[in-house]
Amino acid sequence: MILDDLLLINRKIDTKVIGKTIKVYPSLPSTMDKIRQFAMNSADEGLVVVALKQTEGRGRMGRKWITGEGGLAASVLLRPVFEPQYEFIMLGGLAVLQTCKTLGVDDCGLKWPNDVLAGEKKIAGVLVEYQAGENGFYIVGMGININQAPDVTQHMTIKPGSLAHQLGKKIDITDFFALLLINFDRLYREICSGHSPFQLWKQNLITLGQGVCVKTHDREICGLALDVNADGSLMIKTRTGEIITVIAGDVSTETGNTPPV
Ligand code: BTN
Repeated sequence: MILDDLLLINRKIDTKVIGKTIKVYPSLPSTMDKIRQFAMNSADEGLVVVALKQTEGRGRMGRKWITGEGGLAASVLLRPVFEPQYEFIMLGGLAVLQTCKTLGVDDCGLKWPNDVLAGEKKIAGVLVEYQAGENGFYIVGMGININQAPDVTQHMTIKPGSLAHQLGKKIDITDFFALLLINFDRLYREICSGHSPFQLWKQNLITLGQGVCVKTHDREICGLALDVNADGSLMIKTRTGEIITVIAGDVSTETGNTPPV
């Protein structure tokens, strides 16, 4: 049983901060909401809430994220003493990406800002939420299609895929999760000691150099994905030569949308 294995996962990992306490659920509406309840009740940093099914999961830009059979939904509570907000946008995507690479998925990368793609399909999404205040905290939520891609019931800018499909074999969800927490723990401690993941994140962004359209909350901007800034924002050069910086949005690579020269 995956659930029983997940309950024993602490034995498989020797992390310093992340996953000292792991709460495992067969199903939850959203791991973000569950971990927020613990956070509001003074839970320690590094707490992980994980569910094998998620019925009301949230995605970026107001999207839904439903986790079904073969997937994993996890949220991590962070209480950094300083505010490395931008780095946390990079953290979750990089931790998933490194885990996929270790498992042997070669053709994988990040779609700005933190979608994990393998073979041009989305295999994971990351949502970061921040609670301001004296006991403020961050929650990094990761949804990963490990052995199965979800049924798509709403418009997505990219098709979902699964790691198993990419690798051509079933993956042990507990092993994947153990590795993910180890990678997350290492990256988080690096950030806390002042080492920015920016260069690593930028190197793995397959979006750069592509002709893209980015949907923001109020408009769509098309052009060449030129570069990223240390705060995680994306610079787009439009066909008129204007350079527009986008902080949050949904990127699609349109066929025929060749970059301007
Ligand atoms: C996206 O690609 O839009 C981000 C998806 C993030 C989904 C994860 S699953 C675990 C956590 N719980 C949620 O409700 N959402 C995040």
